[in-house]
Amino acid sequence: MSEHNILAARMKSIQPFHVMDILARARQLASSGRSIIHMEVGEPDFTTPSPIIEAGLQALKDGQTKYTPACGIPELRERIAEWYWQAFQVKVAAERIIVTPGASGALQLALGVLVNPQDEIILTDPGYPCNRHFVSLFEGKPISLPVTAEQNYQPSLNQLQQAWSERTRAVLLASPANPTGTLLSTELTQQLYQYITQQHSTFIVDEIYQGLTYGQEPQTALSIADDIWIVNSFSKYFGMTGWRLGWLIAPEYALDALTRLAQNLFLSPPTIAQYAALAAFKQETLDITEERRFEFAKRRDFLLPALRELGFGVQTAPQGAFYIYADAGRFSDNSHELSLRLLEQAGVAFTPGIDFGEYAAKTHVRFAYTTNLPELEQAVERLHKHLRS
Ligand SMILES: Cc1ncc(COP(=O)(O)O)c(C=O)c1O
Repeated sequence: MSEHNILAARMKSIQPFHVMDILARARQLASSGRSIIHMEVGEPDFTTPSPIIEAGLQALKDGQTKYTPACGIPELRERIAEWYWQAFQVKVAAERIIVTPGASGALQLALGVLVNPQDEIILTDPGYPCNRHFVSLFEGKPISLPVTAEQNYQPSLNQLQQAWSERTRAVLLASPANPTGTLLSTELTQQLYQYITQQHSTFIVDEIYQGLTYGQEPQTALSIADDIWIVNSFSKYFGMTGWRLGWLIAPEYALDALTRLAQNLFLSPPTIAQYAALAAFKQETLDITEERRFEFAKRRDFLLPALRELGFGVQTAPQGAFYIYADAGRFSDNSHELSLRLLEQAGVAFTPGIDFGEYAAKTHVRFAYTTNLPELEQAVERLHKHLRS
C-alpha cells in the first residue's frame, strides 16, 4: 500500500530539512578523508559548562531518575523566575513558568492550546521552519509574512494589519531570530503587542537565543507586557542542546490547559536535565557563558565583513544568535545547488535559504559561526578561492 493511503494528509505539509542532504554528503566526504568546515550547524560548538555537567552527574548519583511534575520541579521554576528578576528586573510568578523538553516542547504546548483547525498563525519568512510545521500539525494555517533585510527581517505593523483576518489566532516571532540573527526592537514589540491585543489575539515571542546578543544587552518581551507568551530554552546560551530542556511562560488563564497538555504529551520534562539546569544560573556558569558570548561576538565581527568582501550581501548586521543570513544571488539563484557545490568544491558546509521559507530563499544562505575562529578563517579562504574561479 502506498504512503498516500496510510499516512495522515497533514504529513504533506511537513517538509524535511534540505540541510540534511548537505550533512549527509559532508559526512561522506569527511569519511573519505576530505576536510570539511561546518557552518551549517545550529548549535554551539562548546560543550555544556562544567558546573551544569557536574550537577547532572550528581543528580544521577542521587538517583534522580524518575518522572517529575509535568510542569517541572518547583526549584527550577523558582530559579528561572529569579533569573527574570536578576537579569531583566521582570517579576514573573514561578507558577507561570512551565519547564518543557526544549523550546520545541514549549512551542508545541503553546500552539497545541491555541490553534483550532483552520486558525491562522502569523510567522515570518524567512523563519524557523519547525514553527509552520507545528501549526500544520494542529491543522492550523501558517501565514508567512515575507520580511526583508531593510526591515531587519521583522514584520512591520502595517504588514501585520494587512495579513490580519478573522481567523488570525496568534503571531509568533523570534528575537534574536533564526536564520537572520535580528532582534525585535522595543518600539516595534510595543506596536505589534498593542495591535495584537486590540484584536484579542495572542503574541508569542521565541527568545531561545536570549543571552546571545552582541553590542547590546539581552532583553525580554516580558518587560513590555506581562501577557506576551514567552518561549525559551537552555539549548543555546547555556549550551545544553542535547539535554532537551526549555520553558514556556504564559498568562494565568492558560496554565490549566497547558498543564493538562504537558501531562499528556510529555509526562514530565527530562529529570536529570532539570537538576543539571539548577546550576545554569550560578555565577561560575554565567562566567563561562559570558566568555562564550564574547567569543561568538569575535567570530561575528570577523565573519560579517569577510562575507561581504567575498560578495555576499548582508545588508543588516545580525545583532544576535550565531547566524549570518546572506544574499548569495551574485553566485547563484539556486541556494541548494550552491550549498552542495561549495561543499563539494571548497569543503565548506552551510544551509540553503530554502530551509527557512520561500521568500528570496533561492538566493540566500545561512552561515552559522558555531565553529572556531581559525576554522572560520580557513572557510573564508576556501570560499574566496572557489568563488573567484
Ligand atoms: C528559533 C528557534 N526556536 C526553537 C528552537 C528549538 O530548540 P530547542 O528545542 O533545542 O530548545 C530552535 C532550534 O534551533 C530555534 O532556532
